[in-house]
Amino acid sequence: MGLYATVMGGITEYTGLSPAAFFTILAMMAVVYKLVSGMFVAAGDYVAVKKANAYALREPVQLGENVTEEQLRGYDGSDPEKPLLMAIKGQIYDVSRSRMFYGPGGPYALFAGRDASRALALMSFDPRDLTGNIEGLNASELEVLQDWEYKFMEKYVKVGQLVGARKQTETEGAENGNKIQEDKQIEDNGAQQPPTSVCQ
Ligand code: HEM
Ligand SMILES: *[C@@H]1O[C@H](CO)[C@@H](O)[C@H](O)[C@H]1NC(C)=O
Ligand SMILES: *[C@@H]1O[C@H](CO)[C@@H](O)[C@H](O)[C@H]1NC(C)=O
Repeated sequence: MGLYATVMGGITEYTGLSPAAFFTILAMMAVVYKLVSGMFVAAGDYVAVKKANAYALREPVQLGENVTEEQLRGYDGSDPEKPLLMAIKGQIYDVSRSRMFYGPGGPYALFAGRDASRALALMSFDPRDLTGNIEGLNASELEVLQDWEYKFMEKYVKVGQLVGARKQTETEGAENGNKIQEDKQIEDNGAQQPPTSVCQ
């Protein structure tokens, strides 16, 4: 407790920022650093990157509805011959076109090959939240997750489903259709932001 208070007090004293603002800026700097450093590749990686980019232009491969978590892990981008996949609520999306986000060295590489529902709902990079288990989340956290799901449905092709994942129902599909229209309008106005406000 004493150390914690000292550190927090020290941050305010030396930076003039509240601890929350200080850590937000720190996190932002980390994300930007990762994004920028991801833009530069070593000469030896050039062939791999070219292959991966070619992959992003291919037709997504459908994996069916009984994909295991272990199978999904194989699509984390470490093999440039394979697409880059990520799941939300058991629904698997091909995110190959966003290799700069989810590929090796990207700021969100930890989500690749996983169902990252819990991490996205909590806006957390904690490895313990890298799971599709969304038990115990409250209404606002589930809403954040829903926003992510809409974003993925709109932006990426769904290529399969994890074993035991609930199928999306017809009505859900229809609702989503409407919501996607709304989201599209927002995006057309130039607002392309992650759906929550950790970085406001
Ligand atoms: C802390 C400051 C953060 C900053 C400055 C930041 C910045 C960004 C930016 C600029 C984008 C690109 C948006 C786009 O072009 O569509 C992005 C995308 C994304 N962010 Fe963050 N982010 C932050 C925190 C987080 C956190 C905490 C999470 C989740 C745990 C997260 C998850 C994502 C994901 C999954 C995408 C990619 C969405 C897609 O595939 O289009 N971000 N972020
Ligand atoms: C997936 O598994 C379920 C339950 O075991 C089974 O009913 C279904 O037919 C399987 N689907 C495919 C495409 O294999
Ligand atoms: C949900 O939990 C978060 C974090 O614990 C909290 O900030 C938020 O106010 C809660 N929302 C609701 C609707 O209970």
